[in-house]
Amino acid sequence: MKTIFYSGMLALSVAGGCGNPQGGAGVALRDALKDKFYLGTALSVAQLTGGDTLSERVARENFSAVVPENCMKSMFLQPREGEFFFDEADKFVAWGEANGMWITGHCLVWHSQAPRWLCTDESGGNVSPETLTERLRSHITTVVSRYRGRIKGWDVVNEAILEDGSWRKSKLYEILGEEFIPLAFRFAHEADPDAELYYNDYSMAFEGKRNAVVQLVKTLKERGLRIDAVGMQGHIGMDYPPLEEFEKSMLAFAEAGVKVMVTELDLTVLPSPQPNVGAAVEASFAYRQALNPYAGGLPDSVAAAWTSRMADFFRLFLKHHDKLTRVTLWGVCDDDSWRNGWPVPGRTDYALLFDRNGNPKPVVPLLVGELCANRHGDARK
Ligand code: G3I
Repeated sequence: MKTIFYSGMLALSVAGGCGNPQGGAGVALRDALKDKFYLGTALSVAQLTGGDTLSERVARENFSAVVPENCMKSMFLQPREGEFFFDEADKFVAWGEANGMWITGHCLVWHSQAPRWLCTDESGGNVSPETLTERLRSHITTVVSRYRGRIKGWDVVNEAILEDGSWRKSKLYEILGEEFIPLAFRFAHEADPDAELYYNDYSMAFEGKRNAVVQLVKTLKERGLRIDAVGMQGHIGMDYPPLEEFEKSMLAFAEAGVKVMVTELDLTVLPSPQPNVGAAVEASFAYRQALNPYAGGLPDSVAAAWTSRMADFFRLFLKHHDKLTRVTLWGVCDDDSWRNGWPVPGRTDYALLFDRNGNPKPVVPLLVGELCANRHGDARK
């Protein structure tokens, strides 16, 4: 059982955070979930630097874990070889500590948002495997050591496997093959032996990706490397993925001997320009008005369907809470979400737990009510 303490307020201890027998009125979802798993959010630079005080307050008051949405990606931390820029990352970690959050770092190795120099030599070709190994070692060691003991877990490698289970043919893979993954886990562990280490990816409900991730976990473990959890990003839509397939992946990862985390949850209501678009940041489609049907507001029927689907996912997470350590939303309020700009720019989406005014959406009191009713029911047995 997890106990989470927040600065500035006493952790509620009555009936698992529900505090009152009236169905949890006024209770924050993170408190109702406090003996189940952390409820996290991704923070943007604007929230950390005073540019978005509304979302900063909502994050502070409603979540128990944080991850940086962008500022710890390698292109921002080390834009030129050997020149590190930590100002925003330092602010992120300080904010997490000041607010008693579980702090995750995102992400040490990702083919996307990596500076061009990482894999490239002076003539524009690929660097040698030895050079890339040394550059990965240097980047990971510098970053992880800086926050040793403060960042509790790292997304070590992000999105190295495709939906069908094959390796993504990134520059990292071209140069080092799949070996870049164990190397990254080894360097991260050497830099902070106490930090939890994760593999993180999207479209995890696909059978091919599920099996390949299970195999990756087994390989890392067989080689004596630390891996604590698999992060299932959870960029979901109204008709994908099937809940049962998501559940199968949760169970498969747990069976492989690691914890499961939902790391980047958001539920889009918008039409997808293409089926199975996943979360590949490079996907991009031209804006058409037909693809942006709710710019003026969300009809009640669509909002109700969204609530129902988000609640179903949370019920699934709760069913398997013994395997799950964290559920993190990819953003705080609806207008913070990357979904408004991807894969079609300039749309209006409603993907998160808090609306554009910072108010909890109906799914929040619904889940709190269910959790608290169950707790008080259990307490009476
Ligand atoms: O840094 C530049 C800034 O200098 C410039 O002024 C500004 C103008 O648009 O762009 C800034 O970069 C943007 C960056 O976010 C920081 O705001 C990039 O254009 C934009 O592409 C980038 O998008 C992020 C994307 O990852 C790529 O890094 C999204 O905000 C972020 O939500 C998204 O997060 C990823 C996870 O890390 C991994 N899993 C998928 C998830 C969604 O794509």
